[in-house]
Amino acid sequence: MHETFFSFELPTRILFGMGALGNLRLELDTHGWKSALIVTDSGVRNAGLLDLLTAQLEGVDYAAYDGILPNPTVPCIEGALPHAQGRDLLIAIGGGSVIDSAKAINAVKTHGGSVLDYEGNDALPGPCGPLIAIPTTAGTGSEVTFIAMVTVPERKQKLPLVSRYLAPTLAIVDPELTKTLPPSVTAYTGLDALTHAMETLVSISAQPISDLLALRAIKFIVEHLPRAVKDGSEMEARASLSYAALIAGIAFNNGWVGLAHAIAHSLGGLYDLPHGLCCALALPATMEFNVESQRAKYEQIARALGAASAEEGIARVRALMSTVGVPLRLRDVGVRESDLDRIAELALADGSVLFNPRQPSAEDLREVLQKIF
Ligand SMILES: [Fe+2]
Repeated sequence: MHETFFSFELPTRILFGMGALGNLRLELDTHGWKSALIVTDSGVRNAGLLDLLTAQLEGVDYAAYDGILPNPTVPCIEGALPHAQGRDLLIAIGGGSVIDSAKAINAVKTHGGSVLDYEGNDALPGPCGPLIAIPTTAGTGSEVTFIAMVTVPERKQKLPLVSRYLAPTLAIVDPELTKTLPPSVTAYTGLDALTHAMETLVSISAQPISDLLALRAIKFIVEHLPRAVKDGSEMEARASLSYAALIAGIAFNNGWVGLAHAIAHSLGGLYDLPHGLCCALALPATMEFNVESQRAKYEQIARALGAASAEEGIARVRALMSTVGVPLRLRDVGVRESDLDRIAELALADGSVLFNPRQPSAEDLREVLQKIF
């Protein structure tokens, strides 16, 4: 440890547990928050989860905006702004798209301008207003991260807003809310969390605390994801996945992600595919690309997966994808071979590449993509 230097940050307070949502009203009353905009999507509303939240808001002046889309665009995010102004706080209830959107809304609500004014690193001039994030999936970790991904369809790109000021004030992580997720969403979001954990562990910014969290997250996901996909009402598995996604989020917020996320962002921008699916498609081949540069770390990953070698660990990831019904090839999800150059070009320009343990050339990236095509 004598040569180790790191910084670790977690500004978000966390309430975790079955039924944790029941603490919401106490939090509002304690802070004196009397008016709120709830940011959500139609899926959360239709699943009845919004009603669970609003049942606690008697006497609170609130409105709900459910216009957030998967891979949220600037117009659907900015559509919330007229309803947000003048309210004490934002409450985001949903998956990563909803929570990311609420972060972007909070930036504009607090500092003015428009969402894309805050694109890139550290573009926010100061803290934002209060934001409570309530995840309904177990995957993104957005409830504790400094990042919001915004899709710009005209450019067919997903762009990041990155600032410590985007971090939610409070995360209420209640595994009960993930009970109704369909198997495919459970699988995609779980594999997103797995990708966060694995990429953080081998990142050039990896550090001892994020390593601990990432390894624990990998173990939990491998053990519990197949069970939760098979039977969504298996609450021990659901709770373990919510916890794993949370700690993988804390880890990658401090250690960052890598090449699989760079590819996932370009795939998501070009094809409007679920983020976790894109991560999963890219993960095994990027592990193969990286393995020699971080062999000791990939051996740790293998042990967490119950495998004997780094290569066997990578095979376990592919086996896990098959077990939970996720395709292994880009062609299986409608990606065109003629787009591989464009995907490589966008991925190479993505900031996540900078944290990957091995820097790819354009040809390297094209080879990785061809391998998974
Ligand atoms: Fe992700």
